[in-house]
Amino acid sequence: MPRSTELLGGLLLGLAALVVSGGAAGQAAQQGQSAGSPAAPVRSMEDLAPPAQQGGIQGQNIFDVKPEVKPDASSDPDYMKQSNAERNKVQPGNSGPMWHAIARGVEGYSSLPKSQAPEAGILIQPPVQYPGSRMTTAGEAWRQVRNNWLIPYGGALVLIALGALAIFYFSRGPIGHHDAVGGGGRRIERFTPFERSAHWANAIAFSILAISGLVMAFGKFFLLPVLGGALYGWLTYALKNLHNFAGPVFAVSLVIVLITFVRDEFPQSGDLRWMLKLGGVFRKSGQELPAHRFNAGEKVVFWIGAFVLGLIAVASGLVMDHLIPNLVYDRGTMQIAHMVHAVATVLMMTLFALHIYLGTIGYRGAYTAMRHGYVDEAWAQEHHAYWHEDIKAGRIAAHRSQPPAAAGDVETARPA
Ligand code: HEM
Repeated sequence: MPRSTELLGGLLLGLAALVVSGGAAGQAAQQGQSAGSPAAPVRSMEDLAPPAQQGGIQGQNIFDVKPEVKPDASSDPDYMKQSNAERNKVQPGNSGPMWHAIARGVEGYSSLPKSQAPEAGILIQPPVQYPGSRMTTAGEAWRQVRNNWLIPYGGALVLIALGALAIFYFSRGPIGHHDAVGGGGRRIERFTPFERSAHWANAIAFSILAISGLVMAFGKFFLLPVLGGALYGWLTYALKNLHNFAGPVFAVSLVIVLITFVRDEFPQSGDLRWMLKLGGVFRKSGQELPAHRFNAGEKVVFWIGAFVLGLIAVASGLVMDHLIPNLVYDRGTMQIAHMVHAVATVLMMTLFALHIYLGTIGYRGAYTAMRHGYVDEAWAQEHHAYWHEDIKAGRIAAHRSQPPAAAGDVETARPA
């Protein structure tokens, strides 16, 4: 037989032997044949059963087999009770016990004096649940409140307020027909120099605080991509210092503003009607409802915006500046002060966006009145009819800071 035919015959015989021996090999595997034996084909889960070795369990499948664990340091039943020093002996470099203790709030040693740093030995604060956070370590809980609530919803509120004012301005336009002066009648002193300087000191400080606060809280979303890290870093650093400087100026001027204006901010007759009809701004005729020196809307902004929210913002700001004596300045205090400050100032910015809008482009003549102090009777009659009546009747002085002659108390009637 030629050599090639011999080879082919051999191959065919070998193949046939393989096919015939398939079932036998499976059986052999079941009976514990050695690893050197040919592998049995896998047809079902049963085929995955481990070889029945001596002492092995017939029919046991792969899911019942426990992986063999080589004993090491962690197999010691007292492993979890080990101190950091003990752990380091059996597993050099493993400082697990120390970190577990820190997470449980166990105090460690710190060279900082406790009088100055009450939490010096506590690296991670114990768990707490702040409103809106999960129950977790306090730093993480604060982070969740800030990132999940304050930033998205606070930012949305400010944007919605600005958008609503823009829509109002473009659909309704400025309120009123008369400028502060030039409409006719006597000049009336609306704000004394003292009232104006207190107001503007407060307004300027507020504007600095609002802009710097907005950049610190939201700047990374709209300024960082434009300015880049280096410039944005310097800007926020500068604004943070400006914020800390303007804060006390705002606090002092706010108290002066509150004391200066409070006597004309209490509810009076006609305020409720004014409020229910929003002063008549949406009336077709454009005629406003009568108001006293300050209308009901101004009074709401005064009490809610300046008094309640303003004082909360100042108090929480002073806490964050460590300026309130005898207070324990630990991280929990700072976290709570920060969350209170953020809520109060976002609400305040929303309300004062309305105040600033009305005090600049929203109300004809209002800005001039606060800038120069004077309005004429036409303006007073149009926006503050009750106040005008009181002045005409002599119940309220038309000039409070200087005599009428010095104030230029002359007719300012428009030419016919
Ligand atoms: C850039 C910011 C501000 C501008 C442009 C502004 C403008 C004005 C104007 C024009 C008036 C006169 C309104 C009228 O004649 O009835 C006024 C009144 C007043 N402003 Fe401002 N203001 C600003 C910020 C502030 C701030 C931050 C506060 C206090 C937290 C404040 C408190 C007051 C108070 C108490 C009055 C008296 C009448 C009222 O209660 O509305 N203002 N403001």
